[in-house]
Amino acid sequence: MHKSCFISFEGIDGAGKSTHIEAIAQWWQAQSREVVLTREPGGTPLSEQLRQHLLHDAMDPLTEALLMFAARREHLVQVIEPALARQAVVLCDRFTDATFAYQGGGRGFDWATLHQLETMVQSQPDGSIRQPDLTVWFDLDPAIAAQRLASARVPDKFEAQPQSFFEAVRAGYKRRMQSHPQRFLKVDAGQTVELVRQQVLSGLQRWWQAQQGQGTAA
Ligand code: TYD
Repeated sequence: MHKSCFISFEGIDGAGKSTHIEAIAQWWQAQSREVVLTREPGGTPLSEQLRQHLLHDAMDPLTEALLMFAARREHLVQVIEPALARQAVVLCDRFTDATFAYQGGGRGFDWATLHQLETMVQSQPDGSIRQPDLTVWFDLDPAIAAQRLASARVPDKFEAQPQSFFEAVRAGYKRRMQSHPQRFLKVDAGQTVELVRQQVLSGLQRWWQAQQGQGTAA
């Protein structure tokens, strides 16, 4: 029997995570696993509509946090939980750690309220809270991310924020990693694409071997 494989990818804008998700999808497909590639905010028709508002419209901080979690709830119920139930590998470009980092760290929104929303939205029938099994955090100095983004597309609402916002987002991710150390794989995203890819794939393989070892011992 397969272990649950819910993997999220995090980092500040410009950290380059999207480039590596495809390589990870191929790695799982080579193990003959069904892969569901999805993203937040988004992943269902309704959540993608909410994404348009979230990325482009100015709004009150509580409204922003509530809409992030509303989009997440829909995504969990419609896509993530059914995929995990049929033992697919779910690769999710951002999940709740992004809300703690961006709305909590970046916007300065109350961390305790985010915990309440997380509990409400991600509670499982057995009382546990659904979390990714593994979170790959592409950590990057915001000054380097700003240089990368400057040559990229037209910025959305978050990408247009000043460097100080991303310093606070980065601190939010660090805080989140400190409270969930067992599932975080921190990758130095300041290196070349090839070196980052190697870090991600070797970390993933180590994690997966450890998971299988636990399965055998149980
Ligand atoms: P991103 O994942 O960077 O997608 P793309 O690469 O297509 O631009 O964009 C999503 C943005 O939404 C990103 O700036 C972070 C932000 N975000 C939050 O502020 N809170 C959240 O909970 C999530 C999931 C994303």
